[in-house]
Amino acid sequence: MRISLRFVIPLAVTLGAIAYMVVPLVDNLTLKWFVRDLDIRTKLITTAVQDPFVELLTERTRDKVRLQRVQAFFNRILQDERLFALGFCDAAGTLVYKTPTLPAESTCRPPDAPPEETGRVLENQRGSLHVSSNPIVLEGKQLGELLIVHDMSFIERRSADTKKYIFYLFAAIAAVVALLTVVIAELSWRGLLAGVKALISGDRDAQALDGTRMPELRPIARDLQALVRDLEAERRSHDESQIGWGPDALRRILREDLKGDEVLIVSNREPYIHERRDNAVEIRQPASGLVTALEPVMRACSGTWIAHGSGSADREAVDENDRVRVPPEHPAYRIRRVWLTKAEEQGYYYGFSNEGLWPLCHIAHVRPTFRAADWEHYRTVNRRFADVVVDEARTPDPIVLVQDYHLALLPRLVRQRLPRATIITFWHIPWPNPEAFGILPWREAVLEGLLGSSILGFHTQIHCNNFFDTVDRFLEARVNRETFAISYGGESTEVRRYPISIEYPPAALAAQPPVDACRNRIRARIGADPDLRLGLGVDRLDYTKGILERFMAVERLLEIEPRWVGKFSFVQIAAPSRSSIDEYQGFEARVRALAQRINRRFGGGGYQPIILKVEHHDAREVYAYYRAADVCYVSSLHDGMNLVAKEYVAARDDERGVLVLSQFTGAARELSEALIVNPYDIEQSAAALQLALTMPAEEQRARMRSMRSLVQEFNVYRWAGRMLIDAARMRHRHRVLSSARAGRLHVINR
Ligand code: G6P
Repeated sequence: MRISLRFVIPLAVTLGAIAYMVVPLVDNLTLKWFVRDLDIRTKLITTAVQDPFVELLTERTRDKVRLQRVQAFFNRILQDERLFALGFCDAAGTLVYKTPTLPAESTCRPPDAPPEETGRVLENQRGSLHVSSNPIVLEGKQLGELLIVHDMSFIERRSADTKKYIFYLFAAIAAVVALLTVVIAELSWRGLLAGVKALISGDRDAQALDGTRMPELRPIARDLQALVRDLEAERRSHDESQIGWGPDALRRILREDLKGDEVLIVSNREPYIHERRDNAVEIRQPASGLVTALEPVMRACSGTWIAHGSGSADREAVDENDRVRVPPEHPAYRIRRVWLTKAEEQGYYYGFSNEGLWPLCHIAHVRPTFRAADWEHYRTVNRRFADVVVDEARTPDPIVLVQDYHLALLPRLVRQRLPRATIITFWHIPWPNPEAFGILPWREAVLEGLLGSSILGFHTQIHCNNFFDTVDRFLEARVNRETFAISYGGESTEVRRYPISIEYPPAALAAQPPVDACRNRIRARIGADPDLRLGLGVDRLDYTKGILERFMAVERLLEIEPRWVGKFSFVQIAAPSRSSIDEYQGFEARVRALAQRINRRFGGGGYQPIILKVEHHDAREVYAYYRAADVCYVSSLHDGMNLVAKEYVAARDDERGVLVLSQFTGAARELSEALIVNPYDIEQSAAALQLALTMPAEEQRARMRSMRSLVQEFNVYRWAGRMLIDAARMRHRHRVLSSARAGRLHVINR
């Protein structure tokens, strides 16, 4: 079937070309040749009849007799089958003799017309006729012109014959050529296709096989690989921009691109925590950028979220399989809780994750602590999570979304147990440069663990590049920065940038009162004047967030612009976090002390420049603060993305308010209309706060509008969707390659 197509298509194309191009060309040429022959023939006839015809015209006789004789003479000449008619025009240009067949269109030329070089072609109902006017001369004097009309139908007959033969000739040549092409192509196609496909796919086994057989394909393959990648990227970005990113789009990707494949999310932090308070069980959502981003994704996708059950009432809430359906009001997915002992939690979570990896990856000038015992717990707990992933997987090839630095070993552990799984790991915090990462005693093991992923995501390209440099430095791996891929131990990991975001519009924004009402409510709650100007910070109480530098900037503002004293307060919402770690306890103490010092210095009479709220706030309360604040200051010393910046922008549907944003956040790369500052530069930050408080409404609106449209367009559904689309593409490619290895390569894509 395919062979016959390959034969028929070139043949049909060739025949089409003959019919529409070659035949008319040949036709035109042959017509010209025949007309020239007729011109020559006409001259010969004229020369031959010249003398007897002159004699007839000049002999002394009656006109009637002359007419009869000319008629007889003409009839004799017309014996020639190609001659159609004759006529004679006298010197005055009057037609005096003619055969009855002479067409009316063959008229005499004016007496002074120049001699005709070639004849004319006339079309009448009889067909084409060739008409020429030939001078009849006696002793240098022109007696008139002999009109000779040739019948051209014989030319048409010959032309039709010629066309037919040419068509047959070319068709025969085309058939032979097409046949030869098919034979040659068929002989080389299998080897060629196998080589090109293997090289394009980057599949090392296949390359080893075919690359040695066809080394001459390698340069072409490199170009083709680049082209395929570009096309894929272009198609992806093109498609992406066409999609209206929301829960439905995500569901559609799962249904259509992933054919309903199973999705499992794994993280340390769970999205809903059951806590026992007095005699009741409370359900709380933790302060975590990871949870903020992934929860709406899970609501859209359903599936299972595997996480540490850290709440005091978590065990009471689960079923016999350690599962609980959430969100509590409208269950849409389930949490599978993983239990840890106190010692494990201490070593794995507080120890290795948060005293080791967290400060290692954030350049916030807090020394990491690495303890061998913590590392052992970290390995044990990662294995525990791997067991649960395998236990939850209903298929041999689920999509496993591994989250963050607590689970760096998990990708390889899952890969070993479920080799066909698509493992997408997202690293929510920065990745440091190789020098910084190199102090980790178990650096190779952590890198090897992560390279069990099919795709490894970071927020920014800088973090991807740092990861490439780190792997290059510490592992025997092939790092390809052109394809953004790392090959290690026979497996490949794509390393990509996926800047995380929030759901848009945020669920917590629904049912919020208008901005004015929020302003009044929040000011009333903190016991302040309705026209007090308000700054806002929302963070976990973490040393990476730059809270001390933020307070120092507020203090500096009050120093250089005393008019704000009594007129401006800064509310800091600080969710308690990792409080059993010394560094965090020390940090909280420093934050409280600084707030008190500034309040003592500038406060009084019920006025507090810094209003510090070290307590948990739910999302709806936080959004009310966002809407009430004139300025939001995000001053992280180092941050993967920082979703507070995006939330503040999303909360301001009145297009008012100013965002002051640290240049050391991933968000600063996207929200360039914020006032971008170096938080360590207290003078600059204070100046930015002053600028924010005095910014005209129009400018606030322009900046807000632009940032809001970016957050709307690049929301968290798009973040997750891009990863799932990449997973689908990867799964498709693997299926194709598996078919190829099963010996069916030659049938694919032909
Ligand atoms: C960061 C991390 C998350 C973590 C969150 C809250 O955003 O990237 O993985 O969940 O902080 O920290 P916690 O230790 O309370 O989970």
